[in-house]
Amino acid sequence: MLDIAEIADADIEAVVDLWARAGLTRPWNDPRDDIAFARSSGHGTVLVGREEGAIVAGVMVGHDGHRGAVYYVGVAPDTAGRGHGRAIMAAAEAWLKARGVWKLNLLVRAGNEKVIGFYETLGFNVQDRIAMEKWLDESRRPK
Ligand SMILES: CC(C)(COP(=O)(O)OP(=O)(O)OC[C@H]1O[C@@H](n2cnc3c(N)ncnc32)[C@H](O)[C@@H]1OP(=O)(O)O)[C@@H](O)C(=O)NCCC(=O)NCCS
Repeated sequence: MLDIAEIADADIEAVVDLWARAGLTRPWNDPRDDIAFARSSGHGTVLVGREEGAIVAGVMVGHDGHRGAVYYVGVAPDTAGRGHGRAIMAAAEAWLKARGVWKLNLLVRAGNEKVIGFYETLGFNVQDRIAMEKWLDESRRPK
């Protein structure tokens, strides 16, 4: 049974470590910046799941005034397959529904298609869309 709550300052390093172990971080992208930005936005947060005091699941959740989004969905590898992923996603969905958001989108990186089955089990379906991007701050573009 996961104990799920919004991230506190003291949780940040444990969450960053969890996401690294789950294979979610990239060298050019400091998750501490992402956590700080989400928390300061007023419409986003990070939810952490604890088991016996240890952080074993995490998700960044928020909305842009139109749709909900989740990022950094991750479970400690040594606790995978025990329902923590389902539980942390249910908490993210509840967080969004409590704020009136009625649709949740997420992106799966190319090369990580194995998680599609996980999301489908949770009721997601694959959309026929093309994701596009533009860096508004060129100094942040990965070299
Ligand atoms: C993906 C991840 C979050 C899943 O977490 P988890 O705790 O292992 O998943 P759960 O045990 O909660 O599984 C929930 C359900 O999905 C099912 N499921 C899990 N992976 C599946 C897969 N690849 N295909 C089909 N079903 C799958 C489980 O059987 C379970 O079904 P049930 O509740 O009906 O029994 C976890 O493996 C992880 O952290 N992966 C690395 C990080 C990552 O890739 N995150 C996604 C980025 S888009």
